[in-house]
Amino acid sequence: MRTVNAWTLSYDGFDPAEEGLREALCTLGNGYLATRGSAPESRADGVHYPGTYAAGVYNRLADTVDGRTVENESLVNLPDWLPLTFAAVGGEWCADAEGLDQWLELDLRRGVLTRRWRVRDAAGRTTTVTQRRFVHMRHEHLCGLQTTFTPENWSGRLRVRSSLDITARNLGVVRYRGLADAHLRSLSAEPVDAQRLLVVVATTQSHIRMAEALRTSVLRSGAQLDVPREVVREAGRLGHELIVDVTAGEPVTVEKLVAVYTSRDRAISDPATAALDRLAWAGDFDDLLAEHVLAWRQLWRRFRVSLRGTDHGALGTVRLHLFHLLQTMSPHSADLDAGVPARGLHGEAYRGHVLWDELFVFPILNLRTPHLSRALLRYRYRRLPEARRAAREAGYAGAMYPWQSGSDGREESQRLHLNPMSGRWVADPTHLQRHVGLAVAYNVWQYYQVTGDRVFLDEYGAEMIIEVARFFADLATFDRVKDRYIIRGVMGPDEFHTGYPDAPDRGVDNNAYTNVLTAWVMRRALDTLQLLPDGRRIELAESLGLRTEEPERWEEISRRMYVPMHDSVISQFEGYERLAEFDWDGYRSRYSDIRRLDRILESEGDSPNRYQLSKQADVLMLLYLFSADELAELFARLGYRLEPHTIDRTVEYYVRRTTHGSTLSAVVHAWVLARNHREQALKYFLEALRSDVADVQGGTTAEGVHLAAMAGSVDVLQRCFAGIETRDDALWLNPYWPPTLGTFDFDMRYREHPLTLRISGAGIQVTAGAGQQPPVRVCCRGQSVLLHPGQAVEFPEPAL
Ligand code: BGC
Repeated sequence: MRTVNAWTLSYDGFDPAEEGLREALCTLGNGYLATRGSAPESRADGVHYPGTYAAGVYNRLADTVDGRTVENESLVNLPDWLPLTFAAVGGEWCADAEGLDQWLELDLRRGVLTRRWRVRDAAGRTTTVTQRRFVHMRHEHLCGLQTTFTPENWSGRLRVRSSLDITARNLGVVRYRGLADAHLRSLSAEPVDAQRLLVVVATTQSHIRMAEALRTSVLRSGAQLDVPREVVREAGRLGHELIVDVTAGEPVTVEKLVAVYTSRDRAISDPATAALDRLAWAGDFDDLLAEHVLAWRQLWRRFRVSLRGTDHGALGTVRLHLFHLLQTMSPHSADLDAGVPARGLHGEAYRGHVLWDELFVFPILNLRTPHLSRALLRYRYRRLPEARRAAREAGYAGAMYPWQSGSDGREESQRLHLNPMSGRWVADPTHLQRHVGLAVAYNVWQYYQVTGDRVFLDEYGAEMIIEVARFFADLATFDRVKDRYIIRGVMGPDEFHTGYPDAPDRGVDNNAYTNVLTAWVMRRALDTLQLLPDGRRIELAESLGLRTEEPERWEEISRRMYVPMHDSVISQFEGYERLAEFDWDGYRSRYSDIRRLDRILESEGDSPNRYQLSKQADVLMLLYLFSADELAELFARLGYRLEPHTIDRTVEYYVRRTTHGSTLSAVVHAWVLARNHREQALKYFLEALRSDVADVQGGTTAEGVHLAAMAGSVDVLQRCFAGIETRDDALWLNPYWPPTLGTFDFDMRYREHPLTLRISGAGIQVTAGAGQQPPVRVCCRGQSVLLHPGQAVEFPEPAL
């Protein structure tokens, strides 16, 4: 049974069918590496799946599928540092003994996973085992597992094996099985001295070396015990077997400490030396634990959220979402040149690739730890040359960011994917989602709005915005009949529409989301040029070979982009409304879950391209990224009137036609319904909270958490329900707070001000921390206030 409390996620009992999900949700990480919450005595066996991943450690392997060579780059499953198994001398290993009960608790506040279980062997010897583990939040190279054994009804000798497993392969996603999965070769696996063992491996293609050094010690009543130990090698594992005398009722503790380094790390000589050195001066488990807990406390101070007056499950889940975000992106990732893997460092879905999901993750980091959101932008900046190359090869100017990005920023999207329902490999043209580049530009602008960091804009941001703008300006063509600019052959966020029924893999024309965002980016590119100091503007224009007519074209596109509409509804793309209506009732009665209609229809020889349906929010993304006012202004500039009823009709039209086959969809729907349909918005918000804890997609969370839905659900609270906007050099508050959510308190940073916000049905209060910063402008319901450090301002909810 699963319970979520304000600071804990706990499980009572063991359910093999849920083990993969539990492992993903109990993952511990620190932004440098993460390890799934697998049982230390387990191996990958169809129930358990041990996995350890380090940010940015990728490797490529090739396969032949359907006669075609396909190459995939994957985040590599690294040697498992957890293995620890035990047996009474003469008895069977614990994995083969009878598990009597198990209780597991993930402590979100302290970043500790605790497991308590009782095991009885065939001879009736029962042992209580308590295990605690951390992946250190201050010392990012250290991981620890502490196991305390208390024999209940026996005394004798206990065998304990503490090992490193170098057999790791990428086997975490059933759909990828059959494709190459062996990313590592072993370079050495040797004891170093009486206490320490060292394993060194390398990835087969990217040649990243990685070392894990292990020290195992035994303690009784807090004192180290010197026990007989021998080196054991078995089935790809190198370990120590220790023999410990135990007495009924007397606890004895085995501590396993592991140091992990890779050749991507800075300030080291080589990974093996670094790992051994690090272990040499590491304290014992309890000392390290105290430092780890302190690091988490500090992190939680920055990411403080509290919800009072509502049930603790919601608050606990919000914290669980922040927790997993911070385990993927932490201060330790700032320097790692790693983006946001869509499924965290928690599993192997999407092969650890970086997609547009960072759009949903970005605001949470940006409003608290802008050095981390900046790090994400730097990841993109470093891959600007590759994006330029991709644009050139496709025949365009500027930079074309890939839909899926990995180590070097080339397009990593698969070209074929397996439909598990039909067993067929089908074409996958999702790389046509060019909108990812627009998301990069959008994030650059948000970073600048929140931080006012001109240096970043000058040095990196401007170049990205301009290169993205150039690409889209080139992608757009002028249509004489429409007398407007159009964009053909792309995919919008809705992955169910890969093309038109007669040209299924060639994309659609005039995806409204892409077109409107293109118009927006054109303006931001013009603004950016204005913002740059003269010298830098000239320098950048020179080095980019920017022609004087280019900004003129941006200006023109920002006013003349085509946006398809029908019956006062923004069309998802040109011709969407002419597609067939879908038989929703029929399919709902035939299938218990129709989220992945693409798979269902393909298995029936049909295709979603024929119908008016959507996997996820597409047009509605516009209302997620822009306030109604901003959108109306964008449309007005384009020469369209966006009537309030157009927004309502558009929302209503797509809500009825969306299957929510992506967890992102609930986040966006909560958002867009917040203004006028509060009850429905709450329903979607609660659905977004359930995405991973309840594994709403039926099996996908085991392959990694949905980081964008996790971060996005928290963002619904802060930017949607609390209505925070950062634009035009001011902080705007436009709250639509559902009173049933009680009182929400959180901290954020805006333009170097630490701010505390409190929102409830009664209104919103903003308090600025003390400091020397210049005041910031706060606008709410027609009022505009200059907030100085140390001051507070309150905007009561207007009486109805
Ligand atoms: C969604 C994409 C998303 C990806 C990774 C897909 O199901 O359609 O929008 O980027 O998952 O989260």
